[in-house]
Amino acid sequence: QVAAASGHTVVLVDQSEEILKKSTKGIEESLKRVTKKKFADKPEAGAEFIEKTLKNLTTSTDAVTVVHSTDLVIEAIVENMEIKNELFKRLDKFAPERTIFASNTSSLQITQLANSTTRQDRFGGLHFFNPVPMMKLVEVIKTPMTSQKTFESLVDFSKAVGKSPVSCKDTPGFIVNRLLVPYMMEAVRLFERGDASKEDIDVAMKLGAGYPMGPFELLDYVGLDTSKYIIDGWHSLEPNNPLFAPSPLLNKLVEEKKLGKKTGEGFYKYK
Ligand code: 3HC
Repeated sequence: QVAAASGHTVVLVDQSEEILKKSTKGIEESLKRVTKKKFADKPEAGAEFIEKTLKNLTTSTDAVTVVHSTDLVIEAIVENMEIKNELFKRLDKFAPERTIFASNTSSLQITQLANSTTRQDRFGGLHFFNPVPMMKLVEVIKTPMTSQKTFESLVDFSKAVGKSPVSCKDTPGFIVNRLLVPYMMEAVRLFERGDASKEDIDVAMKLGAGYPMGPFELLDYVGLDTSKYIIDGWHSLEPNNPLFAPSPLLNKLVEEKKLGKKTGEGFYKYK
């Protein structure tokens, strides 16, 4: 959405037409929200902006065909190293020499992903934040093998889509998630111990620390499955780090398919 809105030609690729339809609908709804604010006094200019953006955006279920004519691939699939590696390996065979590959992974090592391809110098991390149309940050991750030219291209792309890039080494969680995920997990543990209710913890962090959402609201917003993947991955890397310890409550909710806002229930109910 943000790439298309800033004049880039985008092909959104996913596994089924059904998912793509849902994604397109989500983008249309989000564009309406953005337009309402950006073109408050100029509804005609707003309508034109939406039309132009949607013209820049097509969809496909065939990543291999699409990648033949792509300058930049931004992968944002399930947070699973094997599945991501399998995709990158396949795309690497069909992408032109010039194509840069980037992962939007929240927690996996970019170096390990780059190693599934033959283009380690044209591989980096581009980590966006939910909700991407609103959040101005992008973390640009350079591995020891990422070329300076690739890094600069990723920084330039981030600026071209209207974001503010920061850079970070290829360390678990980069900057934001390394601070944010342990904080959210500590909130779950506080609740699990019965020290405070989840409602009060959320109110406390909003009114006492100025956060726009409390930790439980944010966990539901990000997705409990994604949060679990992140913490499980780090726990396996550093089993003795108490900040990375899994939470029985989070595990239970994920097992019950209560994944947050997207499924209608997580820590809170949204139906
Ligand atoms: N698309 C377009 N516009 C959106 C939007 C979306 N998806 N979501 C919200 N907005 C707009 C609304 O239209 C509204 O515009 P308005 O001011 O013109 O009315 C504005 O944002 C504010 O929205 P709301 O009034 O509904 O609610 P809030 O004031 O609470 O703002 C929020 C919503 C911007 C999401 C704010 O709550 C927030 O910043 N929350 C924290 C988000 C955060 O921490 N994100 C990082 C998560 S970590 C992550 O993503 C990393 C990953 O790897 C796990």
